[in-house]
Amino acid sequence: MFEHIQAAPPDPILGLSEAFKADPNPKKINLSVGVYQDNSGKTPILESVRKAGQLVLERQKSMSYLPIPGSPAYAAAVQQLMFGKEHEVVKSGRAATSHTPGGTGALRVAADFIHQHLPKATVWLTQPTWPNHPQIFSAAGVPTKNYPYFDAKANSLAFDEALAAIEKIPAGDVIMLHGCCHNPTGIDPTPAQWSKLADVIYGRGLLPFLDFAYQGFAEGIDQDAAGLRALCRPGAELIVCSSFSKNFGLYCERVGALTIVAKDKAAIDKVQSQVKVVIRSNYSNPPAHGAELVTTVLSDEALRATWEKEVNTMRDRINGTRELFVKTLKAKGVPGDYSFITRQRGMFSFSGLTPPQVEQLKQKYAIYIVSSGRINVAGITDQNVRPLCEAIAEVVKG
Ligand code: LMR
Repeated sequence: MFEHIQAAPPDPILGLSEAFKADPNPKKINLSVGVYQDNSGKTPILESVRKAGQLVLERQKSMSYLPIPGSPAYAAAVQQLMFGKEHEVVKSGRAATSHTPGGTGALRVAADFIHQHLPKATVWLTQPTWPNHPQIFSAAGVPTKNYPYFDAKANSLAFDEALAAIEKIPAGDVIMLHGCCHNPTGIDPTPAQWSKLADVIYGRGLLPFLDFAYQGFAEGIDQDAAGLRALCRPGAELIVCSSFSKNFGLYCERVGALTIVAKDKAAIDKVQSQVKVVIRSNYSNPPAHGAELVTTVLSDEALRATWEKEVNTMRDRINGTRELFVKTLKAKGVPGDYSFITRQRGMFSFSGLTPPQVEQLKQKYAIYIVSSGRINVAGITDQNVRPLCEAIAEVVKG
């Protein structure tokens, strides 16, 4: 039965982590997968999360099933974090949030929902985007296309090109945007650009779809929701897939959320009943623990204050590391101006390294970077920055 099956290529991101683990070189450096590391190269458990874990264990009375979309307390906490407590979307009840296994789970539930209920829609992805995006939609049978996003020459947002392309997307299609910390480029629209994007998107009759996996890693927890909130116009409909892998360090717990905003409460109730069918036929209902940690942290004043500090610390370290990286590239004589790296936001730097240079870094120096040239800045430490920049100098000079 299985003889005809050919081996799939390794995943472009997680496959590199597997290769890194298997590499015996003691000097190896992993800058591939988007996982935060502190300056000693460790991925810490946040103090707020550790304390919440103790509370969850003490308070837990049962391990029975959760409702299909997860716990209502989690849904409320997620909505308040994203939209703000007093936001009309929250108060009107025209949004429904489901707890999904990670942001990827949210994307897949949303993709299945689009396939079943918007069967004519194409999903438009930024060029470039996270390599798993097209794969998820394709697995759900949803066609995807790309619109321009990145100006490689200027290392900036190709805003005019993006707008011109969006103006031509057929009404009824879905347009994906990254809520903040665009993956892989680290380049986000300004608040004024978000507002213009909202004008054009709604003017064209498109459905915005936000992938929001890095809240707190760009400017601040509240500030990073500016794009989402710009899209929340009266009566406007949208889809948001969010993740707590990065900002709670809950990578292995798979805590994400799918939030759909409809025009009113009656509409969202019908939509959510269909989302429940998608979830039920997929994984039935979500695992509880990670979401309980998030809900506990967000609803306890002291834990929340600790968490906010911890997110700020992670963001500050990444931004400081950007400065250090650029300074060290210069000190090691790497030709070119890399100052654009300090203007990018989030974990990633779209470095401009070419696929052959990336391959050379892996083969000769055991440095693992995604082939697009995307570097996880959060993997750079005081220890590895010099050998890293020396190796980059070697491969760039040729
Ligand atoms: C990444 O882009 O590295 C992260 O989102 C992790 C992943 O699953 O790819």
